[in-house]
Amino acid sequence: MACRDLTKGETAAQEIREVTGNKHVIVRELDLANTKSIYQFAENLTQEEKVISILINNAGVMMCPFTKTSDGFEMQFGVNHLGHFLLTFLLINLIKRSAPARIVNISSLAHNFGRINFNDLQSEKSYDGSSAYCQSKLANVLFTRELAKRLKDTKVTVNSVHPGCVKSELTRHSWVMALAWKILTFLIKTPKQGAQSSIYCAVAEELEEVSGKHFSDCQPAFVAPQGKNDETAKQLWDVSCKLLEIQWD
Ligand SMILES: NC(=O)c1ccc[n+]([C@@H]2O[C@H](COP(=O)([O-])OP(=O)(O)OC[C@H]3O[C@@H](n4cnc5c(N)ncnc54)[C@H](OP(=O)(O)O)[C@@H]3O)[C@@H](O)[C@H]2O)c1
Repeated sequence: MACRDLTKGETAAQEIREVTGNKHVIVRELDLANTKSIYQFAENLTQEEKVISILINNAGVMMCPFTKTSDGFEMQFGVNHLGHFLLTFLLINLIKRSAPARIVNISSLAHNFGRINFNDLQSEKSYDGSSAYCQSKLANVLFTRELAKRLKDTKVTVNSVHPGCVKSELTRHSWVMALAWKILTFLIKTPKQGAQSSIYCAVAEELEEVSGKHFSDCQPAFVAPQGKNDETAKQLWDVSCKLLEIQWD
């Protein structure tokens, strides 16, 4: 478990150990809003572990006030997209050596309302928390699409997921969304239900060769046209590498 708050992470890990009887649940510090932390986490992990069979890129922040990561990226684009992009880059060789392996990127239905604003990716000119969230979730879908192409014939698959509307702390920055989640309570999934599509993509035998797809409710889900645009996916990939000063190929 990669968590920025070790106390919170350790409490959750202890609960998992008690419920499952699995003592091998390990918590490590990872702040996706800080590239130094991502490099440190990846370095420690690649030294400690010989195999990574499944990577679930789950962390997310929604509709926060305009803030920047330690590296000066807009928070939602920085954490939701760039943080996971860099983490995956740093772990990809070990993941490939561990094949068959799977990567699962947690996106959202919100990708439908997103567009990648290449003229103002970091929302420096104008910021709208909701648009920035939708952009970052579209970025998850496009990242999945381009990565799947690059992982062809490696026996490493990557898919994206909309977990559903789930009772969680995601609405912490938006009272409107928090209220909507309360009103629509009969439609809201429990965390256990919300985890099912991610788990499905991580372990379902029938998905062994499925890559570059989007899932919800443990089945293939609709992808908005802007999430199927190969040119945008490639452009986003190149810009992300440039911003992070990495060379993927
Ligand atoms: N809940 C929904 O209805 C819903 C719908 C569609 C998609 N999603 C997606 O599902 C994923 C999980 O969200 P959730 O609903 O479980 O929300 P959540 O309860 O707020 O969980 C988000 C997690 O991300 C972590 N996180 C945030 N910033 C981080 C950073 N800089 N470094 C490391 N970890 C960080 C948070 O850590 P802390 O605990 O320390 O804050 C928290 O554990 C997100 O990608 C979200 O976009 C959720």
